[in-house]
Amino acid sequence: MKIAFVTGILASPLVVLAQLNALAKDAGLLYFGTAVSPGDSNDAPYYRLENDIKNFGQYTPDNAQKWDALQPSRGSFSYGAADAIVNRALSNKMLMRCHTLVWYSQLPGWVSSGSWTKDTMTAVMQTHISNVMGHFKGKCYAWDVINEALEDDGSYRNNPFLKALGDSYFALSFKFAAAADATTKLYYNDYNLEYFPVKADGAVRIAKLVQAAGVPIHGVGLQAHMTVGRTPSRANLTWTLNKYTALGLDVAYTELDVRIKPLPSNSSSLQAQAKEYEAIVGSCLDVPRCVGITVWGFGDSHSWIPSTFPGAGDSNLYDKNSKPKPAFSSVSALLASASGKRPPWNTAASTTLLTTTKPAVATPTA
Ligand SMILES: *[C@@H]1O[C@H](CO)[C@@H](O)[C@H](O)[C@H]1NC(C)=O
Ligand SMILES: *[C@@H]1O[C@H](CO)[C@@H](O)[C@H](O)[C@H]1NC(C)=O
Repeated sequence: MKIAFVTGILASPLVVLAQLNALAKDAGLLYFGTAVSPGDSNDAPYYRLENDIKNFGQYTPDNAQKWDALQPSRGSFSYGAADAIVNRALSNKMLMRCHTLVWYSQLPGWVSSGSWTKDTMTAVMQTHISNVMGHFKGKCYAWDVINEALEDDGSYRNNPFLKALGDSYFALSFKFAAAADATTKLYYNDYNLEYFPVKADGAVRIAKLVQAAGVPIHGVGLQAHMTVGRTPSRANLTWTLNKYTALGLDVAYTELDVRIKPLPSNSSSLQAQAKEYEAIVGSCLDVPRCVGITVWGFGDSHSWIPSTFPGAGDSNLYDKNSKPKPAFSSVSALLASASGKRPPWNTAASTTLLTTTKPAVATPTA
């Protein structure tokens, strides 16, 4: 299997270099990024790739900014692990996608099993959002304000926020977020938007509710946790992305991986995976307002898939030894072939953000 990888790489001379981010930028995206975890530093080859801005230009903390990590008990905020990731990104001159504020999962018990009225839940949301976004103010290119508020059938997921506030919690969350940091892009983020048109339309409905309330929303994040053999075509993915850009929103792939089942993978399933990664990245290139792509880890030993979906795995661009797989080659070659085909993304705006983060909170713009 190792020999197959090497052959695949040599067949395509452009991809010997680990330069996903450099290639993505040349192709007009703002970044190619990855989820990161504090434990990544224990794996030296992996950590080297993770800290190389030619390969990754953006980080998303996998767990460190979730509610249970940041406000485990009421009024007590804990920022150490998240600060370490954010500071590493900024010293590497990388962008941060910050993740996430209002989500039903990884909520501490005091929120999920509390009994809330409209007013008390509003206060809890406002306190959390304003503290957290205030703490990271100016350091996040984007924030996933609301995560996974939809069921696969497009209905609203029953969570403590919906229970207390009904569908008014969507606009309220974005309103508090905009008030806390006016320099960041505010996103709605969810999974399976790629697969289920009714769910994709649910996210359209949420974005429209926020817009109708006169509150800013800047983008929709499509998580893109895909499965080999089930990934929609590039054209179909483009069609889905355009549902959101038609509302004046940016789009991004925020948690990409393509899992293989059954294991072990073999050369044909790895080739199929390479094609499906290519369709996803290609659809982002096809949509001018697709900002960038974030993979949910990039090595097969750094993946949430095997423990969450037993029997599935090998979902990433690199293998367990941080060696590039066929999917790495296909994505690199596709990005290289798209070089110069669209203008550089919003360079002025992103440069401003990076430089203003150095002297912390110099000029409040809110
Ligand atoms: C995309 O796929 C969905 C689900 O199979 C289908 O309903 C829709 O018509 C497709 N759209 C296009 C443009 O291919
Ligand atoms: C490779 O794995 C797939 C399942 O993912 C299986 O259907 C196929 O038969 C395998 N091919 C070989 C050559 O082992």
